[in-house]
Amino acid sequence: MKLFEDYKRKTPTSKEMFERAKNIFVNGVNHDIRFYEPYPLFLKRGKANKVWDVDENEYTDYWQGHASLILGHSPDFIMNEISEQVKHGTILGAPNPYALELAELIKKVVPNAEKIRFCNSGSEATMYATRLARAYTKRRYIMKVSGGWHGYNSNLIKNVWNKETSGILEEETKYISTFKFNDISSFEQTFKGIKNDLACVIIEPVMGAGGGLPADKEFLRIIREDTEKNGSLLVFDEVITGFRLGLGGAQQYYGIEADLLTMGKIIGGGFPVGAVAGKSEIMEMANPQRKDSTRIGGGTFSANPISMKAGYLTVKYLIENAESIYSKINSLGEIARKGIDKVFAEAGIDTQTTGIGSILLTHFLTSEVDVIKSVEDERLCDKKTQHFYYLYLMTYHNIFFLPTHLGAISYAHSDSDIQKLISATLEFSLNIKALTQ
Ligand SMILES: Cc1ncc(COP(=O)(O)O)c(C=O)c1O
Repeated sequence: MKLFEDYKRKTPTSKEMFERAKNIFVNGVNHDIRFYEPYPLFLKRGKANKVWDVDENEYTDYWQGHASLILGHSPDFIMNEISEQVKHGTILGAPNPYALELAELIKKVVPNAEKIRFCNSGSEATMYATRLARAYTKRRYIMKVSGGWHGYNSNLIKNVWNKETSGILEEETKYISTFKFNDISSFEQTFKGIKNDLACVIIEPVMGAGGGLPADKEFLRIIREDTEKNGSLLVFDEVITGFRLGLGGAQQYYGIEADLLTMGKIIGGGFPVGAVAGKSEIMEMANPQRKDSTRIGGGTFSANPISMKAGYLTVKYLIENAESIYSKINSLGEIARKGIDKVFAEAGIDTQTTGIGSILLTHFLTSEVDVIKSVEDERLCDKKTQHFYYLYLMTYHNIFFLPTHLGAISYAHSDSDIQKLISATLEFSLNIKALTQ
């Protein structure tokens, strides 16, 4: 196929490295989603809205490190301070001022973040949040959305994929029940069956897995109301939405409050991080001074000065410039989503570019699906054309999205980046057949 041949011609060093990588890394990668056909680009640098591959091709980057970067790659004002901090200790393994400063900032702007525990990843944060919920309520069941991604925890990966993963005991997922996103009756049916033993519902208010699928407000409102009445907790997984939808994340965006929150990505300023936060009374369950305490640890590198300082500088910058940052990235997101779908519609191709604010992913609709509201809908889309579209953007227009995964716009992107994305899309829509034969 011409598209693959041209991609290979452009990226010979990535190809060679991938051959080596396959001998040492499972499937050649260190995160499952980083693999795509025919082989992934090997990136070696990033700055602002750009990344460079090992063949020195320069790309406009819409992956932005798994959507963890909101100010673009390596902003100078953060990296200069981090370079200094590196000389004075990268891990102190003790309370430090940087974690304190970051936590105080988060508490100021994120509703219900009365107490916070930092860890190293979003996966840890969701593990801790669900453990806290079980400890606090003294109940066993956790409800989650089918297809919902909360990291690689053994129990929370239930129903992420069509096929279950081996290596996980039935007992580990016995008390996890799933329901369909944006489907009130599916939620209520599952809820009814287990409510007496329901510790919490964990949900992303905007689902990353389907490409930024926003929950209907009424759906979230009912979940909030039912959990509250039932004495179960509501956990918002805000690993993506935290500080991306706005300073107050999805809670503020929807006007719905959660009992516990998980965060990650943006609050690490480009370095590894996770956090569980929530109402004091619940978080205090983790206080080892209590007789009935649960343990939520943190990890060797938790609250290390590098992640904390970078996170602090990022969040401080977001707070000080909130108006201009969020209005810019949200409006670029809107222009991109609308512009892409318009171009495809004019070419007679049905697409839906999902996402809100600064996140987006284009899906190619089929006779089986005309609107995407859940991961189940998204699975009915034409994944092959979607993959070709993103590979096309990389190969001929130097635009990098991780094919088939959520794209993110940063403050370092410009109007002209979005216009280039739309005109590249136009070209793809006209050439699609010739290229993929
Ligand atoms: C909503 C959500 N929760 C949890 C996680 C897991 O975070 P991490 O990859 O830092 O473990 C992710 C990662 O993308 C996520 O998107």
